[in-house]
Amino acid sequence: MRLNNLQTKKENINLSNKLDKERIPEHVAIIMDGNGRWATKKGLPRSFGHNKGVSVLKEIIKVSKNLDCKVLTVYAFSTENWTRPFKEVDFLINLFEKVLKKEISEIHQESIKIKFIGDLTPFPNSLKSIINSSEALTKNNKNFTLNICVNYGGRQEIIKAARKIAIKSSTGKIKPSDIDEQLFNSELLTHGIKDPELLIRTSGEKRISNFLLWQLAYSEIYITDVLWPDFTEIEFLKAIIDYQSRNRRFGGIESLSNESFEDSYYSSLSKND
Ligand code: FPP
Repeated sequence: MRLNNLQTKKENINLSNKLDKERIPEHVAIIMDGNGRWATKKGLPRSFGHNKGVSVLKEIIKVSKNLDCKVLTVYAFSTENWTRPFKEVDFLINLFEKVLKKEISEIHQESIKIKFIGDLTPFPNSLKSIINSSEALTKNNKNFTLNICVNYGGRQEIIKAARKIAIKSSTGKIKPSDIDEQLFNSELLTHGIKDPELLIRTSGEKRISNFLLWQLAYSEIYITDVLWPDFTEIEFLKAIIDYQSRNRRFGGIESLSNESFEDSYYSSLSKND
């Protein structure tokens, strides 16, 4: 056990040394996947995976804060998760409420702003009430923002934004030509939140599962086979280091080392026209 701890510390130090502290992503989004499989592999009920998932989330919030990453957005319950067995859905809803009640004072002490993103309508009043009071309590906190997506679906979010814009247009508040990325963005549930630079998905699935469809347009994607309950600080550091190795071009190209060569080729094309 001691040897394991020592090895973990060593790996941690190695990775920390590789990290470029000046290029920490400001906003990281996470699809925390694999809770159920983790538990099933251990012969445990799936709910054990969700419980372990909560402690991993607490650890990753701490690590992100220490790295000076400012925003974490996590996918806790999708609009499609309602199709799970009733008992699991009920367990998850109770877990959100229990965790929030238990952790909110520490979250506030740590100056973390908490925000829930998604349609809260179908949730029980007791959960809605603790969500509202937690958001109100922490709304001026500046150290770090935790966005928790619950009953969230990217397509549903886009449809709702489109409807609001259609109403504004049909009532003459805006012209169709006013609709641009900025205006559309302002009608999304995430308005005011910068797009994530990095998306991490655990458990090896290579899809985005209706998560932040608009906002992830230019995010770097990091997929690890590690299941969420096994995700650690080391895995998070690996994701950030991998992100730092990416060349983000946003549809453009790197600056040209042979600009005159490119220019002369384009001029020869126009001469031949
Ligand atoms: C995906 O694993 C995980 C979820 C649907 C739930 C995630 C929720 C938590 C980690 C709790 C967060 C708590 C708060 C208060 C925000 P899965 O169940 O789909 O796993 P599987 O793909 O192996 O079946």
